[in-house]
Amino acid sequence: MSAAIKNVTVIGSGLMGAGIAQVAAQTGHIVTMVDIDEMAVNKAEKRIGDSIKRVAKKKFGDDGDGAAEFISGSISRLGTSTDAVAAVGSADLVVEAIVENLNVKKKLFAELDKAAPSHTIFASNTSSLSITAIADATTRKDRFGGLHFFNPVPVMKLLEVVRIPETSQETYESMCDWGKAMGKVTVECKDTPGFIVNRLLIPYTLEAIRLLERGDASARDIDTAMKLGAGYPMGPIELSDYVGLDTSKFIIDGWHKSFPDVELFKPSPMLEKLVVKIAETTEETLATMNDW
Ligand code: CAA
Ligand code: NAD
Repeated sequence: MSAAIKNVTVIGSGLMGAGIAQVAAQTGHIVTMVDIDEMAVNKAEKRIGDSIKRVAKKKFGDDGDGAAEFISGSISRLGTSTDAVAAVGSADLVVEAIVENLNVKKKLFAELDKAAPSHTIFASNTSSLSITAIADATTRKDRFGGLHFFNPVPVMKLLEVVRIPETSQETYESMCDWGKAMGKVTVECKDTPGFIVNRLLIPYTLEAIRLLERGDASARDIDTAMKLGAGYPMGPIELSDYVGLDTSKFIIDGWHKSFPDVELFKPSPMLEKLVVKIAETTEETLATMNDW
């Protein structure tokens, strides 16, 4: 029998970390959500507050008392911190959802490996990096795996559970059991680039950007075509934006570096330009804010 996971530490309180922490708290886990950036934690708390109300509305309908109890119970199980090392002291599971950068992830896990109890399972929510490469930073590869959630986490039903050759059967079963306790349907995948969903989805969204780049169709028409012609809930251009253009760029750049001959992994000049433009706009906005 796999060991039950009760205390969960989620590192990273961005788009994904906030969602994972929210669903874990909603499903009765004691959660600590960590970020190096205090502002990110504050933003995440606000996002979770809004999202949990939508979940409660769906779950409880007109039962206002039930909804209020669900919301307050969930929030009471969710703590926050900016100190990852201190936050893993009593964790059964650590789910990492920080920036998509191998060296940053490895540095974090190397530190946590020294601080976490020996039974603690480590998992990465990486979209595209090798779980083996991240786990290399630790001495607990048998208690390491991939737990890949989808955005928006409170809505998307899937969880990809990724095992590396060293992942023990007990760890794998604990991760699957936890996924089910989170209300997700789990699928198993080997540690391959993009696992199942992103191996198909990222080349698809990049191909859509290339269509746009060549001037073959407008962004609006590409999105309309895939929504109405293929039954997707979002078109590929809207989806790239929803995932984060920077995340899409990190993924494709990384794969292109590792597999330079794969045509589908070629970077897109338009995506490059858009990400630079967004970074410049953010810098400008921050500069303006600093002037205030
Ligand atoms: N929190 C809680 N509930 C939410 C929510 C959130 N953040 N976002 C949406 N919802 C709920 C809404 O309350 C609504 O509930 P009801 O059915 O009770 O009304 C329901 O979800 C539908 O939402 P909306 O009516 O606002 O909008 P929609 O019907 O367009 O659905 C969507 C929104 C669920 C995001 C849908 O557009 C969708 O499924 N898009 C595709 C998302 C996708 O492909 N995600 C995977 C990205 S890839 C990835 O994540 C992996 C990676 O590594 C990059
Ligand atoms: P994000 O940029 O929204 O959030 C990342 C957060 O991590 C930021 O708040 C940042 O301050 C924090 N952070 C960075 N370094 C840190 C550190 N050393 N310690 C603690 N916090 C740190 O990113 P995201 O979209 O939530 O993605 C997070 C991870 O999840 C990435 O690996 C990404 O590939 C993966 N992922 C993303 C999506 C998506 O749709 N965006 C879907 C599935 C998986």
